[in-house]
Amino acid sequence: MVHRNKITTLTEFIIQRQTEYPHAKGALTRLLNDIATAAKIVNREINAAGLVDILGTVGKENIQGETQKKLDVFANEMFITALKGGGECCAIVSEENEKVISFSNEFSELGKYVVAMDPLDGSSNIEANVSIGTIFSIYRRVSEAGGGTQEDLLQPGTHLIAAGYVIYGSSTMLVYSTGKGVNGFTLDPSVGIFCLSHPNMCFPETGKIYSINEGNYIYFPDGVKQYIKYCQEDDVHSHRPYTSRYIGSLVADFHRNLIKGGIFLYPGTTKQPDGKLRLLYECSPIAYLAEQAGGKASNGFTRILDIEPVSLHQRSPFFVGPCSMVETVEALMRKYHKK
Ligand code: AHG
Ligand code: MN
Ligand code: MN
Repeated sequence: MVHRNKITTLTEFIIQRQTEYPHAKGALTRLLNDIATAAKIVNREINAAGLVDILGTVGKENIQGETQKKLDVFANEMFITALKGGGECCAIVSEENEKVISFSNEFSELGKYVVAMDPLDGSSNIEANVSIGTIFSIYRRVSEAGGGTQEDLLQPGTHLIAAGYVIYGSSTMLVYSTGKGVNGFTLDPSVGIFCLSHPNMCFPETGKIYSINEGNYIYFPDGVKQYIKYCQEDDVHSHRPYTSRYIGSLVADFHRNLIKGGIFLYPGTTKQPDGKLRLLYECSPIAYLAEQAGGKASNGFTRILDIEPVSLHQRSPFFVGPCSMVETVEALMRKYHKK
């Protein structure tokens, strides 16, 4: 008799997990499915990007002062449409929109959740056919009724209900957590189904990769400069010098480091003291996944998930990876920068 491994689809997996929450009514399940559906459509468009003339800037700048690509706009609209139509989400904050998008239609104002998202992360890489991603965070609303508000979105990462990312790479994957580990699903493009391919993803204890934009070295704090020096030293016992790898797409850099073992650093600089990455829809969701995978995420002094956000698009220095690697950076930050 031929034995086949049973394929677990994302939908089956989410429904199985729902049974672990006895009072769950399926709202989070439906919300995650809405995100997966939008991701498949964005994936199709990204794959077609080389064929049709969709590349190039729209000519508008987003609120960060960065030029939007057409695919950023498309991905943003696709996720908003899916979340609005799904009815489980009452508000969104997106990298591409200055203000909270509040749904006050007859369905969505009943939605119990709010979503923070970076619809297309690493978008400057699109033209070079380099991996890009989508990042999302899900919180339970704190307001009572009506469309969601800013207050619903300004929650620390410790309040996260779920977070994840989609990586549009050599294959497309959805990686997410609802607080019970991290699981990865690979899209079978022939049938359009995400299948469980990476159950219970965990960081290796320590790693040999460091990922940082070293072009900014001159602007880095001394603690980070010292850490880079540490990574480059010769030490057989700790497998140094480490390998330097930097794609310039947070999702892709984090995904590789999660699988192979490595630290990602985007520090504050003398030009941008809070760094570049946004707390609500880049740092917090990735930090949540890192912790769920046995790793750690810090701004150099404080756990990312403990930071109380004060504005929707605030930035934070970001260090994420296996605990031992992040703790080495934190020790150097404390040594060189009294806080
Ligand atoms: P986005 O495309 O959403 O603006 O994000 C780009 C981010 C992130 O993905 C990446 O880690 C970082 O910018 C790279 O920045 P540098 O080019 O400054 O290294
Ligand atoms: Mn981004
Ligand atoms: Mn983006």
